[in-house]
Amino acid sequence: MPLARSLSVTSLSGLEEWDEEFDLEDAVLFEIAWEVANKVGGIYTVIQTKARLTAEEWGENYFLVGPYVESNVRTQVELIEPTNPVLKRTIDKMNASGCKYVAQSEEPPHVVAHFHEWLAGLGLVLCRHRQLPVATIFTTHATLLGRYLCAGNVDFYNNLAEFNVDKEAGDRQIYHRYCLERAAAHCAHVFTTVSQITAIEAEHLLKRKPDVVTPNGLNVKKFSAVHEFQNLHAQSKNRIQEFVRGHFYGHLDFNLDKCLFLFIAGRYEFSNKGADLFLEALARLNYLLRVNHSDVTVIAFFIMPARTNNFNVETLKGQAVRKQLWDTAQTVKERFGKKLYESLLVGQLPDVSKMLDKEDFTIMKRAIFATQRQCQPPICTHNMLEDSSDPILNCVRRIGLFNSSADRVKIIFHPEFLSSTSPLLPMDYEEFVRGCHLGVFPSYYEPWGYTPAECTVMGIPSISTNLSGFGCFMEEHIADPTAYGIYILDRRFRGVDESCNQLTSFLFQFCKQSRRQRIIQRNRTERLSDLLDWRYLGRYYISARHMALAKAFPDTYLYEPHDPTSTTGFRYPRPASVPPSPALSRHSSPRHSEAEDNDEDERYDEDLEAEKDRVNIRQPYSMPFKNKLSTANGANGSSD
Ligand code: UDP
Ligand code: G6P
Ligand code: GLC
Repeated sequence: MPLARSLSVTSLSGLEEWDEEFDLEDAVLFEIAWEVANKVGGIYTVIQTKARLTAEEWGENYFLVGPYVESNVRTQVELIEPTNPVLKRTIDKMNASGCKYVAQSEEPPHVVAHFHEWLAGLGLVLCRHRQLPVATIFTTHATLLGRYLCAGNVDFYNNLAEFNVDKEAGDRQIYHRYCLERAAAHCAHVFTTVSQITAIEAEHLLKRKPDVVTPNGLNVKKFSAVHEFQNLHAQSKNRIQEFVRGHFYGHLDFNLDKCLFLFIAGRYEFSNKGADLFLEALARLNYLLRVNHSDVTVIAFFIMPARTNNFNVETLKGQAVRKQLWDTAQTVKERFGKKLYESLLVGQLPDVSKMLDKEDFTIMKRAIFATQRQCQPPICTHNMLEDSSDPILNCVRRIGLFNSSADRVKIIFHPEFLSSTSPLLPMDYEEFVRGCHLGVFPSYYEPWGYTPAECTVMGIPSISTNLSGFGCFMEEHIADPTAYGIYILDRRFRGVDESCNQLTSFLFQFCKQSRRQRIIQRNRTERLSDLLDWRYLGRYYISARHMALAKAFPDTYLYEPHDPTSTTGFRYPRPASVPPSPALSRHSSPRHSEAEDNDEDERYDEDLEAEKDRVNIRQPYSMPFKNKLSTANGANGSSD
């Protein structure tokens, strides 16, 4: 009898340890998902960001399988010939016979096939039905029925245990898809999902408790200069400001330096993503800012793809007008400079009154004339195909936030994912997030929620909810999330109106912060990045794969239950320094003057505070990462 290899989660203090202990040389990993090299939403981000770490572990034995989409293949895939002879034979046969094979060889390696979501789930069901020697994992990133029920105004979380799942799926005409999802969950050796909250949902709706929860990670960029991310914020903010100058041409009656950029982004699920709550809270915020005579202007961006037929003329015109003003200023500047130069050449100080001539004024008047505008700056940047029934536009019509001068809250709806090649706002999503001040994600249904996680690693504060996987995860690991710029909205134990008030209050408090306080808060937010790094969170995937190998090939692999003492996780303590609330924050620079609010000095003052905090954080953080989920999931898959 071959010696069983031991697979244990207790020794998870670093990935290197796995490599030393477990020889995966004769094992092959396939990961199959609809979003491999095919961006739809967050699952693409899971696959794309996790690839590097998984490839480090599995080397050439790691294969990602996704749909063949010509445009994606051209831009994202490098075509190569497989070096592994077994794989080459299999692919050749698949090509020759219309994709009939999954895996076949004389000396079968230990295959792990990891399927994501119901769309790929059929492959898993067939593997099991045909009794292929493959260790299977099924990860669901949401339940189909959960998503549908929530989108339909159901009191979801209070009735989770009560739903007649077959009837509900049938009523929504998703019964076939639901069955596929449920079959995949039940057939898998190991069933996983992305958060505790979705684990509970899966247990009720799919009738299987996940064996492992695999929280989503990111690749955290480490900059050599501590404040590099702050500089990037300033650079990106400048670019957003340029866009705003164009968008609001003719109506730039607010101070751009006192303008805060808020945004919500993701797939367009109006109520699941909380766009409804955000709009309502913006209306209330607008009222508060107005009655309090605030000089802050809030611009809220909605980045959610909808059906359009391209940018609208008014929006494009705005950027053209801005560009024209810029060009005019450059032309006049050059002419001015030339006259100045000539005057200096002959040893004379220039006569300032003669530096601009008639022609200069004509050019400038013409440019100013082009900025005359009768209409308000547009809400939407594109021509919407379903304009009259669009939920965001209809809500804006109802709450009456039309970008008028009197409003302190302005709205820009960009119904397309961002791209650096856009003629309108040429920034990729990451650059855009860096330039904003606050991400607002008040989701009702959000198994994980990458958008606030991405904000965190870029040092941008965010609002999420205690119904999102991310929000719950942060609540669990941080003693005082708000102090770190992680605002967690209560959508679980409060009614909609109360949640909306809480959201309004978060937003209003945020608007009251000084620049200095925002800088301090961003420093703190960024310090949480390690918590979301795949270098740590990747171990849950490793654990799931080892569990699957042990279940499928028990003669070769043994999965040892974890040490029950490893149940305690770690928590980021409260920051030792002063919380960045307007009332409590004090100025630590002796040179600081309230009026100046000189951010550069303050940024470095915060260094000292940050270092104090870091000492406290590093201490517990250098402890081995405890698999909190493994406390609930033993080797046999049972959980509490
Ligand atoms: N995203 C993007 N471009 C955009 C807006 C969003 O690529 O202009 C990405 C974002 O980076 C995130 C994903 O869309 O990774 C949304 O994932 P999330 O988990 O928040 O929600 P999902 O859409 O999967 O429900
Ligand atoms: C960063 C930059 C500063 C800039 C500040 C603006 O900290 O390093 O130079 O002034 O951002 O912050 P704000 O929150 O006003 O965009
Ligand atoms: C799904 C969920 C989202 C999650 C993503 C990645 O699309 O809606 O909350 O972040 O999958 O797991």
